[in-house]
Amino acid sequence: MTRIYFNDVVTRDGFQIEPEFIPTDTKVALIDELSLCGLTKIEVTSFTSAKAIPMLRDAEEVMGRIRRVPGVEYTVLVPNVRGAERALESHADELNLVMSISEMHNLANLRMPREKSFSELREVIAMAAGKVPVNVSLSTCFGCPMEGNVPHEEVVRWAERFAKLGVRGLTICDTTGMAHPAQVTRTAQTLRERFGALPLTFHFHNTRGMGLANVMAAAQAGIDRFDGSLGGLGGCPYAPGASGNISSEDAIHMLEAVGYDTGVDMHRLLAAARRLPQVVGHDVPGQVVKAGLTTDLYPRQRPSSN
Ligand code: COA
Ligand code: ZN
Repeated sequence: MTRIYFNDVVTRDGFQIEPEFIPTDTKVALIDELSLCGLTKIEVTSFTSAKAIPMLRDAEEVMGRIRRVPGVEYTVLVPNVRGAERALESHADELNLVMSISEMHNLANLRMPREKSFSELREVIAMAAGKVPVNVSLSTCFGCPMEGNVPHEEVVRWAERFAKLGVRGLTICDTTGMAHPAQVTRTAQTLRERFGALPLTFHFHNTRGMGLANVMAAAQAGIDRFDGSLGGLGGCPYAPGASGNISSEDAIHMLEAVGYDTGVDMHRLLAAARRLPQVVGHDVPGQVVKAGLTTDLYPRQRPSSN
C-alpha cells in the first residue's frame, strides 16, 4: 500500500480567518487531540505580526504548552527573519517559510515584493542551517485572485531558487481554490521530474468544490504529502472570497477508501472534528463527520405503519 503523509493545518490556516479569538487553552487542547490521531505533521501556529494575524498572537504560549508526541512533527509558518527568531526560540521542529508566486498576492499578504521576501527567507534558511529543517510553502501556485493565471514556469522558477538553497521540501499551495485536476497533474509531473527526490506537499482549498478531485489527481501523479484542515476550516485573509482548506477527515477518508495508507485513526480524527463547531461557534464544511464513514452501518428502517 502506498503511504500518504498528512499535515493538519487547522490551528494555523483554519483558525487565522475566524472572526472571534479562540482561547489559547482551546487551541492547545485541540492540538493535543490531533497529536494522538496518527498525523505526520501538525502546523501549530504562525509567527507573524499580531497586527496582520491577531488570532495567532499567542503563538509562543501555544508552542510552549502543547504536549509533543514522538513521531509527530510540529511545524510553524514563518514569513520573515523576526518570525524565524521567534520560531527557533519556541523549538519548532520545522520552519515552514511562506511567499507567493504572484507579486500582487505577496504584496497584499506579506506587504513586500517577492524579491524582498526571497532575500528575507534566504537569510532565514542560513539562520536555521544545522538547527532545524526548513520547508517552503509557495502560495498562489495555481492562480491569483488579483493577477489571474499564474504561469507554470513561474512556479518552477521559484521552486528552483529555493531547492538550490537546500530546503528539505516544498509545499505547492492553491491558496484560493483556483486549481483544477488537469493543471494539478501537469504541475505534479513537472515538479517531480525536475526535483527528483525533494519531498513535495500539495495544499488545496475547496473554494470552488475541486479540492478532493485535486488531491486525487496529485496522488495519482505520485504526490504523497498533503495539507488539510480539520473540518475544512480556513482561508487566506488577503484573498477575496477565499474559503476553507480541504477537510482533512474527508481527504483521508477518500484516500483510505481508494487504498492508500495514511496511518490516521479516523475515529479519533472524527471525534476531534465533531467538537469543532463548538470551538468556532458555527457549522463547518467537512462532510464525513456528518454522514459517518462508508463502513458505518445503520439499522434498517422499519416501514412505517401508515
Ligand atoms: N512577528 C511578530 N511581529 C512582527 C513580525 C513577526 N514575524 N514581523 C514584523 N513584526 C512587527 C514589527 O516588529 C513591527 O512592530 P511595531 O509596529 O511594534 O514596530 C510591525 O510588526 C511591523 O513590521 P514590518 O516589518 O513593517 O512589517 P509589515 O507591517 O510590513 O508586515 C509581515 C510584514 C510579514 C510581518 C506581515 O505582513 C505578516 O505577518 N503577514 C502574515 C500574513 C499571513 O500569515 N497570511 C496568511 C498566511 S498565507
Ligand atoms: Zn491555505
